[in-house]
Amino acid sequence: MATNLLKGKRGIIFGALNEESIAWKTALMAHEEGAEFVLSNAPIALRMGKIKELGEACNAEVIAADATSVEDLENLFNKASEILGGKIDFVLHSIGMSPNVRKGKTYGDLNYDWFHKTLDISAMSFHKVLQTAEKLDVMNEWGSIVALSYIAAQRSFSHYADMADAKALLESVARGYGARFAAKKVRVNTISQSPTVTTAGQGITGFDDFFNFADQLSPLGNAPSEECAKYILSLFSDYTRYVTMQNLMHDGGFSTCGITEEMMETLAKARQK
Ligand code: NAI
Repeated sequence: MATNLLKGKRGIIFGALNEESIAWKTALMAHEEGAEFVLSNAPIALRMGKIKELGEACNAEVIAADATSVEDLENLFNKASEILGGKIDFVLHSIGMSPNVRKGKTYGDLNYDWFHKTLDISAMSFHKVLQTAEKLDVMNEWGSIVALSYIAAQRSFSHYADMADAKALLESVARGYGARFAAKKVRVNTISQSPTVTTAGQGITGFDDFFNFADQLSPLGNAPSEECAKYILSLFSDYTRYVTMQNLMHDGGFSTCGITEEMMETLAKARQK
C-alpha cells in the first residue's frame, strides 16, 4: 500500500541490527515509500548483525559509524551526501545500550564507567549527530531528525536503571537542538515507543512481564514496531513540517491511562486464586 510518501527524500538510518530492530522495519518501509538512504551502525554490529542483507533489500549502502565518535559521524554525513547526491532530508537515531542494564545492575549499584557509556551511546550521541549535521550543513530545509525514547524518562521503571536517565537526556536534547535547528527549518523530535520485542528490549531484566503489563494497561495494546516505523515515516514526510521539539507518545494510550478493563480482570483473577 505504498504511496511514495518519501519519494525524492534522502536519509540516514542508524540502528538496524536484525529483523526485529525498529530501524530495520523503518528502513524497509522507507524504501517502499520511495526514499533513498544510507544505513549505519557501530562497526561491531556490522560484523555481528545482518545489516548487509537489509542494505541489499533496500538498495542502500552501509557505512560503519560508532555514534559516540564525532569523527565517524563526520565521515558518515560526508559520504552519505556524496552517495545520495545531495543534502539529507531525514535521520533516524535508533540507538540505545546500557552496560549496566545488560549486566543486570540495579539503580542502587551502578558502575559509573558504564553509566558514562550509557549516556554517551544512548543520549549524547544524539547531540553529536545533530551538531555534526549542523556544522557540516548537510541538512535540507524542512528536514526531520527523529530519535526513539521510552516513558521511563518521565516515570520510574525500576528495571530500566540508568537508561531512564539517558532517555530523559535524549528528550531534552531534542528540545534544545530543535529550537536551534529551527533556524534552518530542520525539525527534531523523539518518539516514546511501547515496550517492543527487540535485542535492546529483551536485554532488560523481566522484559516479558514488563511487556505484558504495558500491553494490559494500554487501551489499544502495545504499539508494534511496524506501527512505530509508520509513525517515524510520517515525521519524515512533508505532512508534519511544523512538529518539532516534541516527545511524541506512541504507546497505545499507556501514558494517559489509569486502568483498563483487562487489567481489572487480571487483578480480580489474581485475588480469586
Ligand atoms: P536494537 O537492539 O535492534 O537497536 C539498538 C541499536 O543500537 C543496535 O542496532 C545497536 O547496534 C545500536 N548501537 C549500540 N551502540 C551503538 C553505537 N555506539 N553506535 C551506533 N549504534 C549503536 O533495539 P531497538 O529496540 O530497535 O532499539 C532502537 C531504539 O528504540 C533504542 O533507542 C531503544 O532504546 C528504543 N526503544 C526501544 C524499546 C523497546 O522496548 N525495544 C522501547 C522504547 C524505545
